Amino acid sequence: MIHTLLCDLLGIRHPVIQGGMAWVATPELAAAVSNAGGLGIVGAGSAPPEVVRSMLRRTRELTDRPFGANVPLFTAGAASALDVFVEEQVPVVTTGGGNPEPFVDRLKRAGILVIPVVASVALARRLARLGVDAIIAEGMEAGGHIGDVGTFPLVPQVVDAVSLPVIAAGGIADGRGLAAALSLGAVGIQMGTRFICTQECQAHPNYKTRIVEAHDRASMVTGASIGHPVRSLRTPFVRRFHELERSGASEQDLVEFGSGSLRSAVQEGDADQGSFMAGQAAGMIGDIPPVRELIERIVAEAEAALRRASTLLSD
Ligand SMILES: Cc1cc2nc3c(=O)[nH]c(=O)nc-3n(C[C@H](O)[C@H](O)[C@H](O)COP(=O)(O)O)c2cc1C
Repeated sequence: MIHTLLCDLLGIRHPVIQGGMAWVATPELAAAVSNAGGLGIVGAGSAPPEVVRSMLRRTRELTDRPFGANVPLFTAGAASALDVFVEEQVPVVTTGGGNPEPFVDRLKRAGILVIPVVASVALARRLARLGVDAIIAEGMEAGGHIGDVGTFPLVPQVVDAVSLPVIAAGGIADGRGLAAALSLGAVGIQMGTRFICTQECQAHPNYKTRIVEAHDRASMVTGASIGHPVRSLRTPFVRRFHELERSGASEQDLVEFGSGSLRSAVQEGDADQGSFMAGQAAGMIGDIPPVRELIERIVAEAEAALRRASTLLSD
């Protein structure tokens, strides 16, 4: 059994977090992860407060285990989503896409564990000083909005910079990734892309199939020119976005062009207009198992990988 500080901090059995993903991380997915011993996270995305509230209440109906909620801070409704998280007394909040500094104090006073996702050592240091409970260090291999440092160099540098539990994210999809993350000094992992390909994830079957069929170089990054790099699978939409960017389109035009594209991928499986956000680990995902089977497999693989590695030691 792999047991880390993260298991004690969150009251979970396995040190595995399912990343909050706009449109994808529904109550059904989050509850399945929590029921399987990990930490499921409901993704508020840009949903209005009443939708967020009903998602959280639905999650409580589906699990009595700890779960979390996430909001990307660049969305217009981030502050209202965080209000709902406090009102609904969500046990854990993760934040992505920015600096949660203005909100940390309020969340902490409400007794919520605050775990921001960071892509740099500087932000990790700053947030550690504000008293957050742990840090998710996410490398640029990840699906969705990303930074520019890879997981392998980022995680140990964040581990060295803060005296807090660090969770590794970005490019992890199996037990070898969990074992590697622990070797880098992390106390657990957060995965996004891998959890899309599970039975309980309600994303459109086309989304899952595209990930299963993806190879190592199937994703690309767009949006860097407007300060919002996003990793998605190469689809006609993403290529058109890339061309627009290269032709010098304005930020407003690009934002309008991209608007609704993740929803189209998740809910309609729209191969033409959809943005199928996914990370570089898509190339190593080949099946769509139930969440419990996936988590148990990953933990068993990690145990085997760590045992194998220990046989390399000699006196
Ligand atoms: C479709 C998709 C949507 C995402 N949406 C969010 C989000 O709303 N908030 C957030 O903090 N991270 C978001 N992420 C990032 C994930 O929570 C997670 O950190 C990331 O997927 C980890 O990298 P991996 O995809 O290589 O596993 C998203 C990722 C994907 C693939």
